[in-house]
Amino acid sequence: MLDVGLFVGFIVEFVTREPSFDPEYFLHSWTGIVLIPVIALHLSSNWAWVMRLLRNGTDDQEFRLGVVNTFLAVMAAVCIVTGFPLWLEWSEAQWLAASHQITGLLSILLMFVHLVMNRRRIGTLVRGRTVPATTSAS
Ligand code: HEM
Repeated sequence: MLDVGLFVGFIVEFVTREPSFDPEYFLHSWTGIVLIPVIALHLSSNWAWVMRLLRNGTDDQEFRLGVVNTFLAVMAAVCIVTGFPLWLEWSEAQWLAASHQITGLLSILLMFVHLVMNRRRIGTLVRGRTVPATTSAS
């Protein structure tokens, strides 16, 4: 359920990124703020997987997924952080808007790569079977 909320949140962010949709960026910004605790919960529920990756490093069979997840986490963090000064009009610096736009689009793209790489786990969850915590990273 949490993961579905996370997916829907990213889609809402993508749809509401156009000023013509929401000139004040109200829905876009508040959805981004709600995503902060949702992302934190998603990370904490997959903490065993994160620790396993950190322990095994390049020897882990899911090292490539770990690299994708790290990029996704960094892009989403930079995107959310740069969203605040833009929304609150603290700065009109072009680099800030450009950073937010680029990291936002890369976050959406990487989220789909993350979903494709986790397709087996997602399939298992959809079919209603339990996944051991040490291997769960969806
Ligand atoms: C993961 C979360 C987020 C994603 C994926 C995302 C994505 C984007 C994208 C792609 C744009 C560029 C629109 C364009 O110029 O084509 C944008 C614009 C914007 N976003 Fe976000 N965003 C996120 C979170 C936030 C948050 C948390 C805030 C505010 C607290 C925010 C505030 C804004 C504002 C104010 C703009 C307009 C920037 C401008 O005037 O150039 N965003 N967002």
